Amino acid sequence: MPKIIFQEADGTRIEVEAPVGKTIMEAARDSNVPGIDADCGGALACATCHCYFSDDQIGMLPAKSASEEDMINFANAEVKDGSRLSCQISITQDMDGWVVQVPDTQ
Ligand code: FES
Repeated sequence: MPKIIFQEADGTRIEVEAPVGKTIMEAARDSNVPGIDADCGGALACATCHCYFSDDQIGMLPAKSASEEDMINFANAEVKDGSRLSCQISITQDMDGWVVQVPDTQ
């Protein structure tokens, strides 16, 4: 099973099991990763699952939907080029070892 490492804003790293087919948000939530609130449970209605991805990672991900693009603008933390809503990203085997940055606020 892939593992994904969530890096908190203070540099703390938390490695979690990331089952293929679940979303990155679900992997974080199921392992109680602090800073991934996911208030809407993945319904694309809260932007509290905001994460930052590297350029390489972004290049491997499907493009944002128009709905994700709209909702991410409601994120409390700064929206950057690597910003995505993690409830919209399904885990694949390729993601094993990825380090995903958690914003300083949701
Ligand atoms: S969990 Fe609410 S938008 Fe992702």
